[in-house]
Amino acid sequence: MKSKLVIGNWKMNQSFEEAESLATAIQDEIAEIHLQTEVVICPPFPYLELITDLADEANFYAGAQNCSQFNNGAYTGEVSAEMLVSLGVEFCIVGHSERRKYFGETNAIIAEKVNRLMEHELIPVVCCGEQLEDRKAGNHFKVVETQIQESLFHLSKEEIEHVVIAYEPVWAIGTGETATPAQAEEMHRFIRTLIEKKYGTEIAFNTYIIYGGSCNAKNAMDLFSQENVDGGLIGGASLKAADFVQIIEAAETAVCEN
Ligand code: PGA
Repeated sequence: MKSKLVIGNWKMNQSFEEAESLATAIQDEIAEIHLQTEVVICPPFPYLELITDLADEANFYAGAQNCSQFNNGAYTGEVSAEMLVSLGVEFCIVGHSERRKYFGETNAIIAEKVNRLMEHELIPVVCCGEQLEDRKAGNHFKVVETQIQESLFHLSKEEIEHVVIAYEPVWAIGTGETATPAQAEEMHRFIRTLIEKKYGTEIAFNTYIIYGGSCNAKNAMDLFSQENVDGGLIGGASLKAADFVQIIEAAETAVCEN
């Protein structure tokens, strides 16, 4: 059984002091646990160096929440994959539904961001997920399939092996309404089958497919116990050290029980 992956997405929250005490509290608590679970913390850009500095000694990796689809140059306000690497960042979320909704990110732009991350050997955490209307209309599988095909299926076998997929139903993000473990498992299995058809069984098995959307200390264990749920992308609950650590502990237990 492969270990789980738990990623905290702090979004646009925390002052520098708050970020420092949150990261230190997480570091202190997980230092006590002999972790199999891979833990990633994705703070806002200005705090990345704080996390990369701590990550050297802590049980976690640093991740960014976004990167530019361009290389370096005249792109005011953007942050390149090369910059992230130079700070010691190892993961980067791309295609989050909030980026799609508020910043007009399309599957084609997300594919370009994945390419920049690949060029710099960063691990892309590529988000997909349907809107509530899509689910009500029974289109959720089609929507997710298109997102994955258009943002990832240009990659070679060697490249796709380094990608993490996060299934985040948009209706569950920040709403307190979680997908049921059965709904999550059904979509994760579907995504794994898509990868299997394109890249083969071994790559499909090895690909991390994590769940996001109101995952918290209470429901994490039930979600992570599903066969095809390899961990979680955690928003709100990653802003409280105690809750985030309980989610990591749930991931540890789920691996042992699977
Ligand atoms: P949430 O966010 O856990 O607050 O629902 C998850 C995410 O958007 O990554």
